[in-house]
Amino acid sequence: MTKTKYRSVFTDATDQQRCENFEDYWRFTQGHSGELLEEEQDLSKKRTTLKKFQQHPVRLKTPIANPDSFYRNYVELVDDPKTLEPLILLLCAIYKFARHEWVGIKAAWDVTPDMAHCVALEDKISRVHLAEEFCHVRLFDEMLKTCGLEQVKWVPLSPFKEKVYEQFPKLPGFIIDTPAFVTELMGVTFYCHLYRLFDEILVDEPEVRDRLKALLDEITIDEIAHVGQRRNFIGPLGIRVAQSLVKPLYTNFFKDIPEVAEIMDVKQMIRDGLAFDFNQLPDYMIERSWIPSYCKTPSESQQYQA
Ligand SMILES: [Fe+2]
Ligand SMILES: [Fe+2]
Repeated sequence: MTKTKYRSVFTDATDQQRCENFEDYWRFTQGHSGELLEEEQDLSKKRTTLKKFQQHPVRLKTPIANPDSFYRNYVELVDDPKTLEPLILLLCAIYKFARHEWVGIKAAWDVTPDMAHCVALEDKISRVHLAEEFCHVRLFDEMLKTCGLEQVKWVPLSPFKEKVYEQFPKLPGFIIDTPAFVTELMGVTFYCHLYRLFDEILVDEPEVRDRLKALLDEITIDEIAHVGQRRNFIGPLGIRVAQSLVKPLYTNFFKDIPEVAEIMDVKQMIRDGLAFDFNQLPDYMIERSWIPSYCKTPSESQQYQA
C-alpha cells in the first residue's frame, strides 16, 4: 500500500505559493524537455527519445487480422462497437483521444506568442507545454505503427468542432484556465486506465504491450506535470469550479468516443479524477515529473529541498 505523501490536486494555494511554483516549474520544464525547436513544434530531448523508439521498432507477432475494421472506424465510428475486437476498440480510442489533443494544440499554438515574443513566465511555460503536446501526438502515432497501422492520417474534426477549438484559446485566462486544467487531469486519468488495459488486451503480445507502455509513460510523465502546472494557474474559487467540472467534462468528452465506454469504466475515471492526489502514481514517474509544492506533505517537501 502506498504511503500518503501528497495532497489532493484540488488543495488550495496562495498567490505567493503559485508564483513560486511557476518559477519552479519553469526550471523543471527546461531540464525535462530540452531546447524548444519552434519551427518544428518539437523539443530536443523529446525528439531524441522518439528517435530511439523508432530506431528499435517492435511489431505485433500476429498482425491484426482485419485492419480494415480499424481504418473503417478510426475517424468516425460506423460499425456497432459491440462487434469490434477489444484491440480495435483500444486503438480507435487512442487515435480519437489523440486527435482531439492535436486539434486543440494546433489552434492554441497559432494564437500564443512564440518564445521570442513571450514576456510573462506563464507564456513561456505555455509555449513549451504546447510543444510537448505535439510530441505526444508523435508518440501516439508510433503506438499505432507498433500495431502495424502505418496508414493512419491525422484528420481535422468537423468544421464546427474545429471552430470551437480555434476560439477557445482566444478567451481570457479566467475562463479557460479551469477547463484547461480539468482537461489535463482527464488526460492523466485516461492514460492510467489505458496502461492497465494494455495488460488485459495484449496478454499474448508481451513485447508490444511493453513498448506501448513505454511510449505511454513518456506521455503520462509530461501530463502529470501539466496537471500540476495548469492547477497552478487557478485561484481558490476556480479550483472549486474545477471540481464541479470534472463530471460533466469527462462525461461529454467520452460520449464523443463511444469506443471508450466499451472497454473502460468512465464512472471510475470520474471518481479517479475527483480523488486525484498523485499517491497512486509509481515512483519512477514521480521522479521524472513535477508536483506543486502545496500538493506535497511537509516531509515530502523537505525531502525535495534536501
Ligand atoms: Fe498530452
Ligand atoms: Fe498535457
